[in-house]
Amino acid sequence: MWRNRRKLLENIKIEKIWFGGVWIVKMEDGKTLLISGGVLPGMIVDVRILKNKKDYIAWQVYAVKNFDLNVKDNKKLCKHNFIFGTDYLKDKVDLPQTEIGCGWCKWQVLPYDEQIKLKEQVVKDSFFKTWFFDEVYTWIVPSKKVFNYRNKMEFSFWRYISKKTHENGQVEYDHLSDWSLGFHKQWQFSKIIDIDDCLIAWDKINKIFKYLKLIFQKSWLPVYDQMRHTWFFRHFVVREGSNTGQFLVNLNVATKHFENNKKDLEIWNNLQKQLKEDNFLKENITSFMITENNGLADVVNGQDIKTYDLWWDGSIFEKLIIDDVETTFKVSAFSFFQTNTHQAQMLFKTAKDMLPKIKWNILDLYCGAGTIGITLLKQWIWEKLLWVEIVPDAVEDAKQNAKLNWIAQESKFIADKAENINFEAENIGLVVIDPPRSWLHKNVVNFLINLKTKYKFPLLYISCNPVTMARDLKMLEEWWWNIQNLKAVDMFPHTHHIEMVWLLK
Ligand SMILES: C[S@@+](CC[C@H](N)C(=O)[O-])C[C@H]1O[C@@H](n2cnc3c(N)ncnc32)[C@H](O)[C@@H]1O
Repeated sequence: MWRNRRKLLENIKIEKIWFGGVWIVKMEDGKTLLISGGVLPGMIVDVRILKNKKDYIAWQVYAVKNFDLNVKDNKKLCKHNFIFGTDYLKDKVDLPQTEIGCGWCKWQVLPYDEQIKLKEQVVKDSFFKTWFFDEVYTWIVPSKKVFNYRNKMEFSFWRYISKKTHENGQVEYDHLSDWSLGFHKQWQFSKIIDIDDCLIAWDKINKIFKYLKLIFQKSWLPVYDQMRHTWFFRHFVVREGSNTGQFLVNLNVATKHFENNKKDLEIWNNLQKQLKEDNFLKENITSFMITENNGLADVVNGQDIKTYDLWWDGSIFEKLIIDDVETTFKVSAFSFFQTNTHQAQMLFKTAKDMLPKIKWNILDLYCGAGTIGITLLKQWIWEKLLWVEIVPDAVEDAKQNAKLNWIAQESKFIADKAENINFEAENIGLVVIDPPRSWLHKNVVNFLINLKTKYKFPLLYISCNPVTMARDLKMLEEWWWNIQNLKAVDMFPHTHHIEMVWLLK
């Protein structure tokens, strides 16, 4: 019965958040439900099976039946928010008729201080089996900017395709109907919501987005179809240097479309000419890059991509200012950079304030464009930096950033997976790790432990996942017994995400 895919459970009351935006409900019969997606405390929902795994079943919300919050009290609300797409609220909220159901800011109808309380609970629960938590943990640092804080937005193209079968059996697709450019729909990942304004993107990102959207729409070039792997427009990324005012646009298109369509190739060539000659774009966009993406995966940077620039070189500059010390970074299209610049400054300052002033070398694993290592090196007299990063473009950026900030001759770069590192690191005074969401690879743990037998260095661990961080800590605590200063910084208002920083000595 429980394994029935169509099974629907009705009137479930949401009470407790679990991890990774998943909610947990204890049923009267002792069973536990894991409910994914943007529900909120106090909601009464119907749920149905989303994933039927061997060890657990994940449920998704099918309908919201009741919801206590008076959403009209909130000053700013996004008309695309998924909650307004639910049956219960559809008639109760006075918003223009637009596509609803965007999966981005799922917590937007909760006041910000309530969001912080929920995140606080997530952090505490993640570390619930660790003895030291209450002694070292301090309250979350909230985000100064709650709206319009994201410096990078990735929009996707989508359209509904109508299919007509003629009497002679010939099939015709109308791929120009119902064109949309925006974000994935909550609970319906293959559909894209048409967005006109995003409340968490910087204002000027919205402005550039709207301007270009109209141009793309008017071109009548077809939108890529992810099912059939044909046609043209795929994604469109806008990135901003929030402290420099520079903008990067990366338009992602499938040029294979032109193999059988010379007419559209001509339209595309004219469109590129139009983009290059447009005064608004030239004034506002520092770097405009085209990515030819003929790969099957629905990603911006997959296999089979080729890039070229309409103007400038596919990168922008960004600055970070921490305690009046300024660092400048070159960031290219595919390099990681923290998506909330102001809170990145807060995060790195939090990290810096935890650290003792030690000499010797810094090893920065998972370094991206080199931001953390360089920021710390600029603050004090460390000797040199050793960097490890998997994305080649980010390594190139890190090299340039070392030069830009006058530490080039002091650095060694390794473009490889962190789990492959196998070098003699000398005179290590600090190791910084900032891995992606998954936990540390066992080779990295062994490498660190081995290094610790030679040098008495503190370990600075930054992570956007408190659960994997807590698990890694269990493996490392034997070696870094003096666990100090665990802090959380909110970089992502209106979402369940939270950034953690901890220092082990
Ligand atoms: C959370 S980002 C941190 C980047 C940087 N520390 C910063 O704050 O800007 C994680 C970085 O790890 C890189 N990465 C992912 N998997 C990796 C691996 N197996 N080995 C090395 N780097 C990896 C990603 O490309 C990304 O730049």
